[in-house]
Amino acid sequence: MYRITAKEELDVRDFFMEVEAPHVARAWKPGQFVVLLIHKKGERIPMSVYYADRETGRLGMFIRRHGKTTFDLWDNFDVGDSLYAVAGPLGMPIEVKHYGNVVFVSDAVCGQAENYATLRAMKEAGNYTISIQTFEDRAHSYPEKFLAKPVADEYYLTTEDGSRGIKGHYLDVLRELIEKDKVDIVFGGGKLGSLKKLADLTREYGIPTIVTVRQIMVDGTGMCGSCRILYDGEIKFACRDGPMFDAHKVDWDDVIRRDGRFVREQEIAKKHYLESKGVV
Ligand SMILES: Cc1cc2nc3c(=O)[nH]c(=O)nc-3n(C[C@H](O)[C@H](O)[C@H](O)COP(=O)(O)OP(=O)(O)OC[C@H]3O[C@@H](n4cnc5c(N)ncnc54)[C@H](O)[C@@H]3O)c2cc1C
Ligand code: FES
Repeated sequence: MYRITAKEELDVRDFFMEVEAPHVARAWKPGQFVVLLIHKKGERIPMSVYYADRETGRLGMFIRRHGKTTFDLWDNFDVGDSLYAVAGPLGMPIEVKHYGNVVFVSDAVCGQAENYATLRAMKEAGNYTISIQTFEDRAHSYPEKFLAKPVADEYYLTTEDGSRGIKGHYLDVLRELIEKDKVDIVFGGGKLGSLKKLADLTREYGIPTIVTVRQIMVDGTGMCGSCRILYDGEIKFACRDGPMFDAHKVDWDDVIRRDGRFVREQEIAKKHYLESKGVV
């Protein structure tokens, strides 16, 4: 069993959770993800890793209350309780080496976790690290201690309405940094629509760009085909060949279309769960 060792609200939707999973924490490398099963018969939910502590064997994650399973996790699991399973690490690690000036951009929960985890490793590899984190507004932004600031040599926080930090999106800040000639490689995670725009921006300047392609996953091991993407004219599986890919080779329109496949079913499952709790 996988004991929960910390749980804390990050904003009105997202929360931090730390879980004991020594075999995963010791093997995890940046770029890889895990799959949580909160009950024996539950859904398998893929999660990015905020940190993996080899000594304590603990994993930190940022989790959004999105549908049935993540609401259940927030509502019914506390510190001291255990998850049924933490599978992983899954997927391919990214190459951690000296690139020069490394930027990580993010504007949604999985990207915020990866921003910290990736830049921490890149800083240890001797890179100059620049973090740009975008949130919708102050109410949907994280407490200071959960930002990627400590692992960034240069740090920018933006909100789309300007209620905290710089007004705007990471794309605006990144364009300015590129024009100042400060960017050797960009890593990114978060909203798929923004990653498509990111790919267009960095392609214009010829800057290598590696991003997380979040697709609906079922088994998470390359067996079911659910997470397939079109990549450089070939079929790849986000769970096995990614989830981080060269953003310039991804067919973004196909990725975005496939991401919406089960919205109706997910809404029905969430509604049933909330009704069972007397919430709606
Ligand atoms: C590589 C990767 C990393 C991710 N990292 C994070 C993270 O750090 N924090 C976070 O909050 N979310 C992350 N997600 C998205 C997260 O897995 C989904 O939000 C979550 O599975 C949906 O939970 P739910 O409560 O709506 O599930 P339910 O509606 O109960 O079940 C949904 C089922 O569909 C699948 N599913 C639904 N939406 C998604 C999705 N967007 N991506 C993949 N599978 C999905 C799940 O595997 C699950 O089996 C990540 C997804 C991927 C693929
Ligand atoms: S989740 Fe089944 S192939 Fe990737």
